[in-house]
Amino acid sequence: MQWKGESAVNPRKCRRPSLRLWGVLCLAVILLVGLHPGQAAAEPKGKVPSKFINVAHRGASGHAPENTIAAFDLAVKMKADYFEVDVQRSKDGRLVIMHDTSVDRTTDGTGEIRDLTLAQLKQLDAGSWFSPAYAGERVPTLEEVLDRYRGKGIKILIELKDPARYPGIERQVAKALAKRNLDKRDKVVVQSFDLKSIQRFHRWLPRVPIGVLLSKGDYQETGVTNAHLRSFAVYADYVNPDKDLVNADLVQRVHRHGMKILPYTIRDQSAANLLFAAGVDGFITDFPELGYPPYHP
Ligand code: G3P
Ligand code: CA
Repeated sequence: MQWKGESAVNPRKCRRPSLRLWGVLCLAVILLVGLHPGQAAAEPKGKVPSKFINVAHRGASGHAPENTIAAFDLAVKMKADYFEVDVQRSKDGRLVIMHDTSVDRTTDGTGEIRDLTLAQLKQLDAGSWFSPAYAGERVPTLEEVLDRYRGKGIKILIELKDPARYPGIERQVAKALAKRNLDKRDKVVVQSFDLKSIQRFHRWLPRVPIGVLLSKGDYQETGVTNAHLRSFAVYADYVNPDKDLVNADLVQRVHRHGMKILPYTIRDQSAANLLFAAGVDGFITDFPELGYPPYHP
């Protein structure tokens, strides 16, 4: 079994074998390298394609309170490729990381995020609702998160959450990224369900990869058509649908349109296995160990 971080082949082992052995080794290399995620179902159980993109949803939120430093630190420890964050804005204009538009579910406070200042948000306990072990976790700002994890070997999938509530948030996020030299490929991905908002963001920072989030409610009846995919491909690099919209046909069509597919939200091994078999490029999960079996908490 090949764990994340190990290369498929140690090139030193290809040195100076007999001609016949060389041939056998190189054929094995070609077969190994030629495998792609779509063939994962034929691989031994538990084997995950080496290029699989494992995204910790709101951090490792199955193990620690979502959208907190504890959950992001754990995603790093679990060697996820990305962690996902939801960005909204406080009353005094600061970008903060929370999923719901109100603080009620995930803190000891009440009220809408947009009606609370950053100082008020920072007083809230964002950990106790999950477990007393996380009492005192605070609501992070986007800037704190970008500064803490830049250069730490993990990328960040940034969701503009309900951006229609926060006019101008696209430019504000773009400025925060550009200030830190993160306005290029391979540093962050920015995604949203709001396609107009994500296109606005794309105009500010065209080099940053874009993800389109697709909800089951919006696409269940029509399915995700090739016309949809053609329109996304104009500006997006990733199509990130609800896992229930995904099958091998959709994966192939997304690939044919030149994009990758990262379904959400994976919470058990059987859902993970279905997606491996469908050939997805990665997935967004509360439990990063589902993407990388070697991690044992
Ligand atoms: O990243 C995908 C996922 O986060 C989208 O749904 O509601 O968890 O933000 P939600
Ligand atoms: Ca999200």
